[in-house]
Amino acid sequence: THQWRGIIEEYRDRLPVTDTTPVVTLREGGTPLVPAQVLSERTGCDVHLKVEGANPTGSFKDRGMTMAITRAKEEGAKAVICASTGNTSASAAAYAVRAGMVSAVLVPQGKIALGKMGQALVHGAKILQVDGNFDDCLTLARALSENYPVALVNSVNPVRIEGQKTASFEIVDMLGDAPDIHVLPVGNAGNITAYWKGYTEYANDGMATRRPRMWGFQASGSAPIVRGEVVKDPSTIATAIRIGNPASWQYALAARDESGGFIDEVTDREILRAYRLLAAQEGVFVEPASAASVAGLLKAAEQGKVDPGQTIVCTVTGNGLKDPDWAVAGAPQPVTVPVDAAAAAVRLGLV
Ligand code: F0G
Repeated sequence: THQWRGIIEEYRDRLPVTDTTPVVTLREGGTPLVPAQVLSERTGCDVHLKVEGANPTGSFKDRGMTMAITRAKEEGAKAVICASTGNTSASAAAYAVRAGMVSAVLVPQGKIALGKMGQALVHGAKILQVDGNFDDCLTLARALSENYPVALVNSVNPVRIEGQKTASFEIVDMLGDAPDIHVLPVGNAGNITAYWKGYTEYANDGMATRRPRMWGFQASGSAPIVRGEVVKDPSTIATAIRIGNPASWQYALAARDESGGFIDEVTDREILRAYRLLAAQEGVFVEPASAASVAGLLKAAEQGKVDPGQTIVCTVTGNGLKDPDWAVAGAPQPVTVPVDAAAAAVRLGLV
């Protein structure tokens, strides 16, 4: 019996590890690439969802975190720190447990989803809520890692990008080549940087005949890359990507330009529409930020930017259970029935 061994073992020759590196893993990666029937019909393309919410802590961050915590352990670190809108902190906290390390996380006060806070708490992270936004948290985390004995595991740590690039390998391994277009939500811009690196390495080594165009989408209230300037007070219901000054900004521009792609914005309304469509019509429950990729694809299709017949992959970055408030909000309250099959059948419209 074989199970997926985690991204470091599966792609060992493409990652910065040696035979003696102490691998810290929860067997992340190997996530489903799910054909999206309704999105394919709407666009006339062959659309797939890379379901990253299926990772051990429920988001793509685990790919980078297995690398970051592994390398921190190899270097003898006893403690790690990160700034986070929630998912990075959940992942760092879990992998730190596996490594026997202390984790410290800095989150923007009141702006992280309850599920993510619960994960950091139950994994025993030391949590500080910062009176500021994510960008302030990252500034603080960098300062602490420079002046105190604690390793920074945000995506400004280059080994995080190395781990996250493996998602591109999995997609090419599954499809037999790179897609024509790859669509991602963009926050701190580490992931779009990582995917582009992965596709580029595979193409350079002859594992793919081409590289996709990279399409990134920010939330309208938090769209510094689209605007071309830092957003001082970012806002969006998609708290995971509520970021006004992305650390990997320049790399995201490079991915966009080298691939012939673009980075655009989607409104919170468009995000929620895509969020509901994914759940109600594709059977895939994601968190709001993840729906930004699909919202972007639908927007581009409505603008006539999507030629039919192409292969398209949308990464949906995090699990819907992280932030269920938006699933419950606005939905009708279920009715209560007695223990009576006839009454239940009437309520269910079966008779
Ligand atoms: N989707 C989700 C669910 C995320 O949590 C993030 C980032 C992104 C998309 C954007 O990815 O930053 O690489 O462009 N979350 C970080 C965090 C900031 O702290 O969990 P990115």
